[in-house]
Amino acid sequence: MPLRSLHAAAVLLLVVLKEQPSNPAPLNGSKWTYIGSDGEESWSKSYPSCGGLTQSPIDLHDDILQYNASLVPLGFQGYSESANQQFVLTNNGHSVKVKLPKDMHIQGLGARYNASQLHLHWGDQKEPHGSEHTVGGKHFAAELHMVYYNSDLYPSASIAIDKPEGLAVLAVFIEMGSFNPSYDKIFSHLEDVKYKGQEVSIPGFSIEELLPKRPEEYYRYQGSLTTPPCYPTVLWTVFRNPVEISQQQLMDLETALYCTRVDDPSPREMINNFRQVQKFEERLVYVSFRSEEK
Ligand SMILES: *[C@@H]1O[C@H](CO)[C@@H](O)[C@H](O)[C@H]1NC(C)=O
Ligand SMILES: *[C@@H]1O[C@H](CO)[C@@H](O)[C@H](O)[C@H]1NC(C)=O
Ligand SMILES: *[C@@H]1O[C@H](CO)[C@@H](O)[C@H](O)[C@H]1NC(C)=O
Repeated sequence: MPLRSLHAAAVLLLVVLKEQPSNPAPLNGSKWTYIGSDGEESWSKSYPSCGGLTQSPIDLHDDILQYNASLVPLGFQGYSESANQQFVLTNNGHSVKVKLPKDMHIQGLGARYNASQLHLHWGDQKEPHGSEHTVGGKHFAAELHMVYYNSDLYPSASIAIDKPEGLAVLAVFIEMGSFNPSYDKIFSHLEDVKYKGQEVSIPGFSIEELLPKRPEEYYRYQGSLTTPPCYPTVLWTVFRNPVEISQQQLMDLETALYCTRVDDPSPREMINNFRQVQKFEERLVYVSFRSEEK
């Protein structure tokens, strides 16, 4: 497909341009936020990729969707074994993150992708619409991202992060509905990681429980990390069907955490940690389902 090769060339060009004196250290990079003077409009000052091509998230709307019969169901390997391990839950100042066991991996993306971590994006109590991707302009309440790296090509996530075909992310939309016992295996520990830098071990569980119904229905496109450094190295799989969590669970997520350290004199709540949708030119999103099947 010309569009696809054009895109591949663009990504390659971007990577080549970027790979000058091996990643100059960002200027005071870790200070980025979602609002205020370090908000997303200024990310590209310290992180040039954030102002570059093929950025994420995007709005998923009919004009850009194309059914593609070659999008087969993904295989989720090592997901249930994860129940026998401990997970580490961390507040990194931007989100709450769970480190995933390396024996978890996805099949069906060409290469093998080993698991790295999962984290969430959400809104606030007044506007509980904090998904990153939108569908037809509409936000869901929140969004879960499971991050993987191409372990056929690269030895670790941190090496793969800025490389061609480096990463794959699975995205799950979250909407308000009934209580979700699986998501509670994360949410019930939020109080232990209220502040930036805090970390706690939690009992393992089968990560597959976090996936929505009919995971064979998904959107697929080539995009970027949605946080600095915004590298355009992510193969996105956004599941079509949302999972439900209760109003109380959503509220817990929206109110439990701070972006700041425990001793910070001016605490900042961790709310609205989602990036605005990005321009989507010269690209198509492939879908594994036919939209009339609604
Ligand atoms: C980074 O921040 C510190 C303190 O806020 C400041 O002193 C320093 O000049 C900054 N460095 C750069 C490269 O902007
Ligand atoms: C379907 O997707 C594959 C990659 O996932 C791509 O190579 C192929 O060109 C697409 N087919 C069509 C008809 O767009
Ligand atoms: C990916 O996971 C498999 C199975 O656990 C492991 O053998 C392999 O070393 C991992 N790859 C990397 C790059 O860590």
